[in-house]
Amino acid sequence: MFSDTHAHLTDEAFKGRIDEVVNAFRAAGVGLVINVGYDLKSSEESALIAQNYDEIYFTAGLHPTDGEPATSAYLSRIRSIATLPKCVGIGEIGLDYHYGGDREEQKKKFLAQLSLAEEARLPVSVHARDCTADMLEIMKDRAEKLPAVVLHCYSMGAEAAKLFVRYGCYFGFGGAITFKNNKQIYEVAKVVPTDRLLTETDCPYMAPVPHRGEVNEPKFVPLAAEKLAELYGTSTEKMSETLLFNAKKVFNIR
Ligand code: NI
Repeated sequence: MFSDTHAHLTDEAFKGRIDEVVNAFRAAGVGLVINVGYDLKSSEESALIAQNYDEIYFTAGLHPTDGEPATSAYLSRIRSIATLPKCVGIGEIGLDYHYGGDREEQKKKFLAQLSLAEEARLPVSVHARDCTADMLEIMKDRAEKLPAVVLHCYSMGAEAAKLFVRYGCYFGFGGAITFKNNKQIYEVAKVVPTDRLLTETDCPYMAPVPHRGEVNEPKFVPLAAEKLAELYGTSTEKMSETLLFNAKKVFNIR
């Protein structure tokens, strides 16, 4: 059975067709989907979607660039959404320096939500872009205090991966590892052990080969599992079992 640990089913792309998307992922052998909030609205909607489908769980959080600012009022809303049934984590939170902006503000927002996750004893789903040094520095201290840290859509390279492994982090891999120009993944796979691997789609974005340019969906997550199986020299079946085991462990799902 396959698992998608980072989906955005609240996106416009899925409006009015969640049933169809769920039926399609069931038919593709996907048995667990973590739907990830990125602002208040998507976190609340994710809670509702999770109520309707057994396989879907959710997380609540404020994305570094898309979510509301981390005022105490907004943080307390996230805290209360996180108490709803089937909330299994805080996220999508993190740092994104790609488009500039105020780095100190982003750090404050990220750290505040890491503290919230610590208090709630929930794992975090982390978005990291063009911020490797700061992310390493933060995780060096904070990762061990959290139930688990998932570095979603990991793209920080093999050298950083060695340190993130040491800090106890998990690595989410999706469509990007199937792209022909992704050479980095071969080096990363050499340093990340299989018990730290997770698969994800980040749908509707990042559709894997051979579906590039299409709307991504959880039904495509088996392609990431297949690629990981190839990289680690094992069968897709065995790899998908490991990936599901890891996902359930990280998000404390029985
Ligand atoms: Ni995302």
